[in-house]
Amino acid sequence: MVRVIWLLVLSSVHVCLVQCGFRNSSAPFLMEEEDALLTVPQLIRKNGFSVEEHRVRTEDGYLLTMFRIPPRKPGLRKHPVFMMHSLFSSSADWVLIGRKHGLAYLLANRGYDVWMGNARGSRYSKRHERYSVNSSQFWDFSFHEIGFYDVPAFVDYVLANTGSHRLHYVGFSQGALTGFIALSDRYGMNDKIIELQALSPAVYMHRSLSGFIKLLVSVVRPLTDALEFIQRYEFLPYIEGQYNFYQAVCPAPAQTICRTLIYDVVGMNPDQLDVKTLRIFLGHFPAGSSLKQVKHYSQIIRDGIFRQFEYGDLAINLNRYGSPQVPRYNLSRATVPVRTYYGYNDHVVNYLNVLQLQQELPNLVGSYPVPDKLFSHIDFILANNVKQVLYDEVVRNVEKADAEAF
Ligand SMILES: *[C@@H]1O[C@H](CO)[C@@H](O)[C@H](O)[C@H]1NC(C)=O
Ligand SMILES: *[C@@H]1O[C@H](CO)[C@@H](O)[C@H](O)[C@H]1NC(C)=O
Repeated sequence: MVRVIWLLVLSSVHVCLVQCGFRNSSAPFLMEEEDALLTVPQLIRKNGFSVEEHRVRTEDGYLLTMFRIPPRKPGLRKHPVFMMHSLFSSSADWVLIGRKHGLAYLLANRGYDVWMGNARGSRYSKRHERYSVNSSQFWDFSFHEIGFYDVPAFVDYVLANTGSHRLHYVGFSQGALTGFIALSDRYGMNDKIIELQALSPAVYMHRSLSGFIKLLVSVVRPLTDALEFIQRYEFLPYIEGQYNFYQAVCPAPAQTICRTLIYDVVGMNPDQLDVKTLRIFLGHFPAGSSLKQVKHYSQIIRDGIFRQFEYGDLAINLNRYGSPQVPRYNLSRATVPVRTYYGYNDHVVNYLNVLQLQQELPNLVGSYPVPDKLFSHIDFILANNVKQVLYDEVVRNVEKADAEAF
């Protein structure tokens, strides 16, 4: 029963994404409808690359999955690249749009050893050595724990398995945020990362332009209370067959509402977001997250302060943090070189919030506004022109940093 209600809730949010009147322009991507139903390793193999699957244990007992595209020309001396995906998503972010455009493939073609993390709670990382995925304990984490435990575990694993002393970090949205948390809060992380490529870093978000996000933030308390009451601690899980489900139930009359909703949330760039690309993406998104992640985001959006989870109870804060004050992340400790990339039409991470973040970074070496003025949040992974206007620049910067790192 709960499952049925959950599917209906999910579908009412996502349903119309399927056919919401986005232009049926022909996307340049090598993508097929069946890609919606493949796993990330299957996608990588289908695109002609070899892939390895690695199990990584965190200090607090989560068993995570990392996918690797091993270097094609092992002779090349290059540092490995670690990539971290966005909220509600998975490593599909980097490989979905095919071998000619996907960022993981572009880096692999340049001879890099590419490692893609999957955050705890997402489709590929739903195991813990003690807690069942059905327990409240399993889901007692926000993006703080992803940055504090998952990222260092992934980074250490890559270094141990490649013999390299340092690696490149590429993160999109939450994937960039978790990099900043690891760099600010974990001793020694700054020595392990060559440069952080921060794509639309979701650190400050209080200038989000989305009315829907603002609405969610205002109702997050009753919403999460209700879900916890029925013991749902997971938010927007990946459900087997979600793609077929969306296909089957999408009602035509709702299309206008849905188009309005998506454009509101991510920003409107109809020429670059193809309906087929979006449909296939929905076979991979959402991939799951915790309710606590959503609550933590709503605090950041509401307060405009980059800090740990606010329990809203002095005693709990005191117990957790040793002080009634919720600790802030100290970005001045993130001393590795950082490059930011942002879109002027990104409704989730407003570019003004990226500029604010830049003020606090002690070692900002690049700041790249995507030249397409209409570039939106979802365009960072799905835009028809993403390679030309963004990924080519990211690859150039990784190459430059790599050459200087020897
Ligand atoms: C979690 O619960 C679902 C049904 O609610 C069940 O099918 C599944 O096996 C459970 N998983 C674990 C690891 O207990
Ligand atoms: C942040 O870290 C820097 C460098 O370690 C330190 O000098 C500064 O006092 C810290 N700021 C706060 C507010 O803790």
